Amino acid sequence: MKPNTSAFVALALLELFATATVINISLCNGTSCIESEREALLKLQHDLRDPSNRLASWIGDNGDCCKWGGVFCSNFTGHVLELNLQNPFSPYDNEAYQRSKLVGKINPSLLELEHLVHLDLSGNDFQGIQIPKYLASLVNLRYLNLSIANFTGMIPHQLGNLSNLQYLDLSGYNFKLHADTISWLSGLSLLKHLYISSVNLSKASDSLLVINSLPSLKELKLSFCKLHHFPPLSSANFSSLTTLDLSENEFQGQIPSRLGNLTSLKYLDLSFNQFNSVVPGWLSKLNDLEFLSLQSNRLQGNISSLGLENLTSIQTLLLSGNDELGGKIPTSFGRFCKLKSFSTGFTNLSQDISEILGIFSACVANELESLDLGSCQIFGHMTNQLGRFKGLNFLDLSNTTMDGSIPLSLGQIANLEYLDLSKNELNGTVSEIHFVNLTKLVTFRANGNSLIFKINPNWVPPFQLTGLGVRSCRLGPRFPLWLQSQKKLNDLYISSTRISAKIPRRFWNSIFQYWFLNISGNQMYGGVPKFDSPSMPLVTNLGSIFDLSNNALSGSIFHLICQGENFSKNIEFFQLSKNHFSGEIPDCWMNWPRLRMLNLRNNNFTGSLPMSIGTLSSLMSLNLRNNRLSGIIPTSFNNFTILEALDMGENELVGNIPTWMGERFSRLIILNLRSNKFHGDFPIQLCRLASLQILDVAYNNLSGTIPRCINNFSAMATTDSSDQSNDIFYASLGDEKIVEDALLVMKGFLVEYKSILNLVRGIDISKNNFSGEVPVEVTNLQGLQSLNFSYNLFTGRIPDNIGVMRSIESLDFSANQLSGYIPQSMSNLSFLNYLNLSNNNLNGEIPSSTQLQSFGGSSFADNDLCGAPLPNCTKKSVLVTDDQNRIGNEEDGDETDWTLYISMALGFVVGFWCFIGPLLIKRRWRYKYCHFLDRLWDGCFVRKCY
Ligand SMILES: *[C@@H]1O[C@H](CO)[C@@H](O)[C@H](O)[C@H]1NC(C)=O
Ligand SMILES: *[C@@H]1O[C@H](CO)[C@@H](O)[C@H](O)[C@H]1NC(C)=O
Ligand SMILES: *[C@@H]1O[C@H](CO)[C@@H](O)[C@H](O)[C@H]1NC(C)=O
Ligand SMILES: *[C@@H]1O[C@H](CO)[C@@H](O)[C@H](O)[C@H]1NC(C)=O
Ligand SMILES: *[C@@H]1O[C@H](CO)[C@@H](O)[C@H](O)[C@H]1NC(C)=O
Repeated sequence: MKPNTSAFVALALLELFATATVINISLCNGTSCIESEREALLKLQHDLRDPSNRLASWIGDNGDCCKWGGVFCSNFTGHVLELNLQNPFSPYDNEAYQRSKLVGKINPSLLELEHLVHLDLSGNDFQGIQIPKYLASLVNLRYLNLSIANFTGMIPHQLGNLSNLQYLDLSGYNFKLHADTISWLSGLSLLKHLYISSVNLSKASDSLLVINSLPSLKELKLSFCKLHHFPPLSSANFSSLTTLDLSENEFQGQIPSRLGNLTSLKYLDLSFNQFNSVVPGWLSKLNDLEFLSLQSNRLQGNISSLGLENLTSIQTLLLSGNDELGGKIPTSFGRFCKLKSFSTGFTNLSQDISEILGIFSACVANELESLDLGSCQIFGHMTNQLGRFKGLNFLDLSNTTMDGSIPLSLGQIANLEYLDLSKNELNGTVSEIHFVNLTKLVTFRANGNSLIFKINPNWVPPFQLTGLGVRSCRLGPRFPLWLQSQKKLNDLYISSTRISAKIPRRFWNSIFQYWFLNISGNQMYGGVPKFDSPSMPLVTNLGSIFDLSNNALSGSIFHLICQGENFSKNIEFFQLSKNHFSGEIPDCWMNWPRLRMLNLRNNNFTGSLPMSIGTLSSLMSLNLRNNRLSGIIPTSFNNFTILEALDMGENELVGNIPTWMGERFSRLIILNLRSNKFHGDFPIQLCRLASLQILDVAYNNLSGTIPRCINNFSAMATTDSSDQSNDIFYASLGDEKIVEDALLVMKGFLVEYKSILNLVRGIDISKNNFSGEVPVEVTNLQGLQSLNFSYNLFTGRIPDNIGVMRSIESLDFSANQLSGYIPQSMSNLSFLNYLNLSNNNLNGEIPSSTQLQSFGGSSFADNDLCGAPLPNCTKKSVLVTDDQNRIGNEEDGDETDWTLYISMALGFVVGFWCFIGPLLIKRRWRYKYCHFLDRLWDGCFVRKCY
């Protein structure tokens, strides 16, 4: 990249010659560029890569550099006054933005432009260099913008020499820039605009006082600066401050009431902090406020006591994400005639929706563009007043308890682009009239309601959606052919919509356009046809998600797996489970490089496992359960080095359990090989699977002993699930959480675990030919809830200290040859609610505890045991077998037990889900999710983050 010297000299000579011409021209033409400055600009250009050719006009022999792009000169002196090299694209337009960056160094020749007044280098990539100290010599600068330009390190305090600065933007990202003090700002007494967002100022808080010495300041942005202490803004010095952004810091406690004296404020952003109360009333002094965001704090009390009622200039009022902020929207808000954006999502607002629409329908309805009342305690019916909100383009009323039907006047909100009515109790019918004028609608979600779509299947909608979600509404029974008019649709969520129809060929051809498709839980049938001419897939970096599970689809999946290379290369989650697909699993998995989850469970696939599955090195979950797959596990599977869940149960697989599983699957949480024809030993290498929580190899022909090293299953030795909880959640998309599910036989029943999987731990090796003793090391696995060793050939005793397995709920040693007493410690197992020790050679008295005596006699049958629940021990029966003491009413006992077990199993699932559920929706997580959506939707919509 460095110029070689001779070329450089030649270039310089050429320039000299050119300049002579220029000077001639400029004599008649007024002013033109100064020779030395042009040279400086060329040097600057030389050190920058310019992939998008933004500097195309910067050519050496094009004399007048004042006409170059981004360069502006004085008409009188010809000196360059302004250099404007900012990235012309917004980061939201990510691809264009990345492409348009100038990349490289800043050549110090910049200093030649000593008359520079305005310098903008924002949005470029200066490759992590420090902000050059020498910029401080450009003392004429009034405008300096170095934001988001990949500068790192300490902000040089020399910038304090730029005493003419009126505008300074040093905003960064990811805290790559930091400052230990900002006291040097005191030299910039003319400063009007100061932006230092995303700069780590955690060590500079003592110097924040300096801001008071900037009396001309109009705009101050200190968002994302890791500040703990609120800047000591003294109102006396800030009569002119109009914009204050202190969002995304770590402020706590009360919002300082002195803000109430900054009476010129028009823009105040305190969002994403930890403020936990407001001083009622002082906000009312800020009569000029146009923008107020208090989002995502911990504000308490009542919305009507925030003192907002006189803010009649307000245009944006964002209160969402304050869980403890309650009350109602007061009627005085009806006077906010300039309001464009209003949000109270994720607050405790509790109000009838018709009342809210009533308050806003007077003058607010005229201007309002964005209304977010989602995840509040909104109830009641929507009224036809909805149709008055003609300017609305964003409406979120999701996750409330509204009921009733959607008013027909919805169809009049002609500007509507985004509508979310998901997770309410809406019912009634939805027809074409509801959408009649919605020509701009892009996203429509009504997931989780009971709406009935009565729409002519051949309807031609006025809109072109990109996102549609109507889970659990009734769309069927016919296939909604109108979907096929939606050429831009890429996010379709129509699971459980009671469609029982053949999937039309055109729809199959269009599936290439989706990055999110969920049509599960219907009765759609038919086979996958050969695709005609696959449409171009959506260009996205995002992994896509396909869920066709739980339908009646049939036939071969060859075309789906093998034909659409462009389509399959982005897919991360692919579920075809619970259909009637058949034939062999095609061998084209090399076309699926991003696959993380593959679920083919409950189909009729036959044949052996294709080699190419082994190319899926990103796979985290593979579920092939309940097919008729045969053959051995291919060695290519040893590429699955980040696999967390493997379920190949209920097939006809043969061979040994591969020893490399223990070496390669170090992150495995679930290993399920149940009901196959595996034989041979339990490989000692499996003991390395320290993350394993579920091990099920039951119903095979395995033999030998259980190695003592099973106490290395350390995830089973703990009840702590905190560090695991994220692993089992693979992805979240709005309503949809992609979670691993697992089947485990607990207490004699097959239980499907989804959201609570991270809490479940169990071992089932029943129905094999394992022999030897039950290793005492099993008692180290104190997180286990279920342990099933039944129907093997175990001998010896039940480990004496079994009582330390405090989490055990289900314990089954039945149908072995165990002997000796039942250990006394078993009476300590207080969670135990299923026990089966029957059909062994145990003897002696059953230890007494409320738990053990609550089981039916069948739990202990076919042994030489006595004592409750079996008949009392006679002295003799303690010592010798007494066949006559065996119980006779086993069947009765069984029946009661079964109902008990059902309710217990349910209780476990429901109980834990209710408890865990709310915890899962963490604030941080919501926040990340919103940022994700931001990127996705190019910022078309108002940011919806809490
Ligand atoms: C001024 O300069 C431009 C080129 O920069 C040239 O096209 C134009 O003819 C000149 N005007 C006069 C009056 O010479
Ligand atoms: C300089 O000239 C340009 C073009 O004639 C004009 O647009 C601009 O306003 C002038 N600038 C000043 C400071 O006079
Ligand atoms: C910033 O510069 C560093 C060092 O050259 C580079 O690795 C990194 O990718 C750059 N970051 C951005 C966002 O351009
Ligand atoms: C705010 O202004 C009032 C009167 O205008 C004054 O009494 C009070 O001291 C000021 N508060 C602060 C913190 O400056
Ligand atoms: C709002 O304005 C009215 C009339 O000017 C006044 O009486 C009332 O006190 C103000 N409310 C607040 C909270 O300042």
